[in-house]
Amino acid sequence: MEFNMMLMSRLFRSTSSIMRNKSAVLVMVTLGLLVITFNFWNVLYLESKRDCPDLFPNNSQPLVYAAFGRKLDSGYLEHVFTLLERAGYVRGRIYSSDWNLLWAYEYPFRVLKTQLVNLAKHKKVNHFPGSGYITNKVNLATSGKKKTQKKSNNHRGIKIQPLIDLDLKTPGTFVQEYVRKPLLIDGHKFDIGVYTIISSIEPLRVYIYDGDILFRFCPEKYHPFDEKEIDKYVIGDDYLPIWNVSSLKPYYSDLGFGMKESFNAYLLTLGKDPKIVWQQVDDAIRTMLLRRELSLASASSKFASSRNFFEMIRVDFVVDEDLNVFIMEANMSPNLSSQHFPPNRLMYEQVIYNVLKLIGIIPSGYRNSAGTDDELLSQPEVAFKDLVVFPERCAASRCVNCSNVECKLCKPCLTNELKTVLIEAFKEHTRRHLCRRVVPPSLMPEEMEDGVDVKGLTEINQLMHFWFHGKCLLESSWC
Ligand SMILES: *[C@@H]1O[C@H](CO)[C@@H](O)[C@H](O)[C@H]1NC(C)=O
Ligand SMILES: *[C@@H]1O[C@H](CO)[C@@H](O)[C@H](O)[C@H]1NC(C)=O
Ligand SMILES: *[C@@H]1O[C@H](CO)[C@@H](O)[C@H](O)[C@H]1NC(C)=O
Ligand SMILES: *[C@@H]1O[C@H](CO)[C@@H](O)[C@H](O)[C@H]1NC(C)=O
Repeated sequence: MEFNMMLMSRLFRSTSSIMRNKSAVLVMVTLGLLVITFNFWNVLYLESKRDCPDLFPNNSQPLVYAAFGRKLDSGYLEHVFTLLERAGYVRGRIYSSDWNLLWAYEYPFRVLKTQLVNLAKHKKVNHFPGSGYITNKVNLATSGKKKTQKKSNNHRGIKIQPLIDLDLKTPGTFVQEYVRKPLLIDGHKFDIGVYTIISSIEPLRVYIYDGDILFRFCPEKYHPFDEKEIDKYVIGDDYLPIWNVSSLKPYYSDLGFGMKESFNAYLLTLGKDPKIVWQQVDDAIRTMLLRRELSLASASSKFASSRNFFEMIRVDFVVDEDLNVFIMEANMSPNLSSQHFPPNRLMYEQVIYNVLKLIGIIPSGYRNSAGTDDELLSQPEVAFKDLVVFPERCAASRCVNCSNVECKLCKPCLTNELKTVLIEAFKEHTRRHLCRRVVPPSLMPEEMEDGVDVKGLTEINQLMHFWFHGKCLLESSWC
């Protein structure tokens, strides 16, 4: 029986009772009418603003952000707001201001669909339509990666149950592999949270914030195991922070290293190689997102352009004694509040800073006056020579026409669409700060000989992979 123990929980199924309540229906109808009236007014308002330039505003216009979520000013987005305001943004309203950035804590594409369906080119939203494809645990369960534990879309409400008690046909119930021997540090199980940024789909470009990784420990020691004590194996808000784990404290507190380096240093003292962990983490993120890309693209196709969207998620992992890495879940709006653990403030601010910088939300201080790509390429920020790769191949006879995929990056074959993609990829690379690219993967020098593995990728993704490879051959900082 013990071998069949699994973690499980069930989805809340209580919404239907609300609908039965007549007065609630009345309230909802009234609210609906209000929303329609408001949207109508808003359309009129936007009509009157049509003349606004469609470009990144010039220096005399303030940058505006809007936020979307419940109880926005209760503090959980404090660091996001602070950083945006330090970068020169002022807060505006979703409906009544011409915002440059919408920071949504909740999924915005249903409620704000009319607002978001046809965004001007310079506007950014911090989610992709359909991002539930990545962050929904039920979807992760089919990603083909090893899984741990049995959970549902509810956060807490997790418990271990003998397999025989599970009703696997209940909607919202699914099984994840149970990690039998989690790696423990000072007896505590822990998870690893990797901040992951999707800057583009079609082609897919993904970065992780490499400046640090969130480590959270279970408050109670794992052994002797008791499934009734969830503090032994589930991480909640009240987790044990790294500075209270005595084997890691010397690195973290006394020597000033980050969480990731403290963990790495500790693993080395055990004679274990931390690279084994981080390579699996990269691979898992890469595989998961490449598999989800088509779903994201199809959800975005109902909107003007997927270029308006980006996403920052936290992907959580558990490691076992043999350093196998198990993906647990991806959080669409990771908690960036340091209210409970003030020492985490700087890490969260660095995460946010790096995301804003990578996506180009923090102004560089130099504003191009350019609008079209060709105008941009005559400005100093990025020139045409920065986009071309593979000089020998492009000069060779096999690229006399453009039928060969590998020739499509050469000047005579470069389409305007691809040029736009390369300009964005180039600028993003220069803005990456502490972010490290995982899609397309960066190659180690010894892997360069074999070239890039593009099996199973769509053509635009193949070209993106080739392009980074080509840049890397010209200059090692691109590898
Ligand atoms: C910058 O914005 C101001 C105010 O909207 C406008 O008057 C001015 O013409 C703009 N300058 C350029 C170069 O677009
Ligand atoms: C946790 O760490 C903090 C800061 O180092 C310290 O003040 C506190 O006493 C520790 N708590 C426990 C339970 O060890
Ligand atoms: C975020 O985490 C803090 C603990 O640091 C917790 O108090 C707060 O409720 C969490 N907020 C959300 C929205 O989950
Ligand atoms: C393009 O070149 C390939 C071989 O390099 C050749 O097989 C093909 O027929 C050429 N296509 C055109 C349209 O010239």
